[in-house]
Amino acid sequence: MTQTAQPPLTDQAIAEWNDALQKASPRQLLEEAFERFERIAISFSGAEDVVLIDLAMRLKQAGKQVQVFTLDTGRLHAQTYAFIEKVRNHYGIDIEVMFPDATRVERLVREKGLFSFYQDDHGECCGIRKVEPLKRKLATLDAWITGQRKDQSPTRAEIPLVQADTALAAPGQQLIKFNPLANWSSQRVWDYIRGNEVPYNPLHEQGFVSIGCEPCTRPVLPGQHEREGRWWWEEATKKECGLHVTNIS
Ligand code: ADX
Ligand code: SF4
Repeated sequence: MTQTAQPPLTDQAIAEWNDALQKASPRQLLEEAFERFERIAISFSGAEDVVLIDLAMRLKQAGKQVQVFTLDTGRLHAQTYAFIEKVRNHYGIDIEVMFPDATRVERLVREKGLFSFYQDDHGECCGIRKVEPLKRKLATLDAWITGQRKDQSPTRAEIPLVQADTALAAPGQQLIKFNPLANWSSQRVWDYIRGNEVPYNPLHEQGFVSIGCEPCTRPVLPGQHEREGRWWWEEATKKECGLHVTNIS
């Protein structure tokens, strides 16, 4: 049965849970996560992390409530917007769309233009368009679920399956972060998508592997690492936008 008022998990308990989960499948991990937390949601980017939704929907059939949200930065590809809508209809789910604070976006654009990230780096724009809306959402949750994988980036090589998100938790909040696909390779994710006829973002058919905002994402060539298609003007070790700042802090 889902428990609502759980005592906070100690660091040791989280580490032990992470060890115990190493042999679990992403589906089993999700099952445990939904079992323990009621205020839990999937953070869906509109890319291959659709796998999380597909897995969770199988649990929904078993009576679990599945909450999904996405961060609309205002700069996503048209294909990504269409894909998010397709996922909503395909699974018959609500996808909560979080928007950035209009006043902050207006000020940024007024002062620095629409492409300040090419000069200043992406921190400020991502902070306004992604991190602040994410924090607003996370303040309503006890746990969130991401599609991060170890093979995505040098900054993600050590990500655990479950961790305390101390970077994005509000004061006094214990926020647990699940990365059920951490140990899956890109190949495995795509085997799942094809094998289960999961809908996918059509940008993947045009050489896009990792997909974020349109001005900060480009296709990669065969043999190039997927992360080279994101913020390609910046160093690989700095390519976190604040959503996953725990990986580099
Ligand atoms: S990012 O930080 O570099 O943009 P990435 O695109 O690799 O992240 O995605 C990793 C995970 O972060 C996704 O599987 C998803 O859980 C979350 N995420 C990234 N972008 C978004 C978004 N726009 N909305 C919701 N979740 C997102
Ligand atoms: Fe801004 Fe680029 Fe970050 Fe999107 S990825 S929020 S456009 S800096």
